[in-house]
Amino acid sequence: MRVLLVGGPGSGKGTQAKRLAAHFGVPHISSGYLLRDHTASGSAEGHEAREHMERGDLVPDEVVQDILREPVRRAAENGGYILDGYPRTVRQAEFAQLDPDGADFAVTAVVHMNVPRDELVRRLLARARGVDDDPAVIEHRLEVFDELTKPMLDFFEKRGELLEVDAAQPVETVTESILEQLQRIEAAQRTDAAERPHDEA
Ligand code: AP5
Repeated sequence: MRVLLVGGPGSGKGTQAKRLAAHFGVPHISSGYLLRDHTASGSAEGHEAREHMERGDLVPDEVVQDILREPVRRAAENGGYILDGYPRTVRQAEFAQLDPDGADFAVTAVVHMNVPRDELVRRLLARARGVDDDPAVIEHRLEVFDELTKPMLDFFEKRGELLEVDAAQPVETVTESILEQLQRIEAAQRTDAAERPHDEA
């Protein structure tokens, strides 16, 4: 199972990724967590990432790719992953999905966690994780999502890999809805594979 969760800040990616990872017995790989770990440890990548994160901007693609590439590849080789927050731009998606080396660890399903903007703001203000949950920075993170991450949804929709979930519902209902849709996509992929002539498989 190789699943990517995509959604605005506060849409519940981390919350659902933990539950899905436990359900499928695969690692939860969070780009935000790994980046915060690097900033806390003072690594070169963390040093470069810090100012972008504090402003609510995206960290440069190369830095994120350097940090995420190996954990994603390792997890894919060992049964799959739930990705939370990477890729999150068209360029990152192209790198992760289309790189010839990446074919074996590319995602098989992408879940768009849809939550109205005012609910996202409410959740983030209630949580107040750190400097990036300041009201002005939240506003900017929402703009960055609209401008740089939403276009990535079209990329995955054209590939037939996108699932839409109403993530404004209670946590348990959102998990059930994601699992139901993933089961449907898995069944369809199994049918496709069974119907494909042997020399294409
Ligand atoms: P990241 O850590 O990924 O932050 P984010 O995308 O802004 O998302 P959050 O972690 O704030 O929210 P979430 O969707 O995980 O929701 P959560 O489950 O926590 O990234 C941080 C920064 O790192 C970025 O701004 C960027 O600078 C950088 N970065 C990361 N990835 C990058 C990349 N690929 N490229 C470049 N830069 C990158 O839930 C939020 C709150 O809501 C919690 O309190 C939770 O309890 C509550 N909640 C969750 N679900 C529900 C529900 N159904 N009902 C009610 N409350 C709920």
